[in-house]
Amino acid sequence: MALTGYYGMADGAVPNDAILKDIGAAHGKTAAQVALRWLVQQPRVVTLSKTARLARLPENFGIFDFELSDAEMQAIYALARPDGRIIAPEDLSPKWD
Ligand SMILES: NC(=O)c1ccc[n+]([C@@H]2O[C@H](COP(=O)([O-])OP(=O)(O)OC[C@H]3O[C@@H](n4cnc5c(N)ncnc54)[C@H](OP(=O)(O)O)[C@@H]3O)[C@@H](O)[C@H]2O)c1
Repeated sequence: MALTGYYGMADGAVPNDAILKDIGAAHGKTAAQVALRWLVQQPRVVTLSKTARLARLPENFGIFDFELSDAEMQAIYALARPDGRIIAPEDLSPKWD
């Protein structure tokens, strides 16, 4: 079974997240690239992303030349919080949390 991850930019929260920025700085990457890399680096996760800006296309594809460490992956998992879910349509969502 595969999981499809959409809304990876978290409604604009990702590009400005301090922890993602710090992790990205260690790799010469942006916070957005760190979030996309975190998604694709997990087994059986399909990552959806979109941009209307041509300039961002190479940024969003530039996630296959670096790897997040286990500690960095865990630091990103730790950003989850009980009230952090942005999208939960009543007719589609299981009881996730
Ligand atoms: N199959 C499904 O069930 C399903 C469900 C939901 C969505 N989708 C599809 O999945 C795709 C992704 O949609 P999403 O809403 O999940 O998109 P997303 O990638 O989470 O967010 C897109 C938003 O993030 C901005 N963005 C993208 N790259 C960025 C970057 N590097 N830095 C800063 N901001 C950045 C974009 O702005 P700019 O355009 O200004 O760059 C846009 O406002 C869409 O094609 C959508 O239709 C599919």
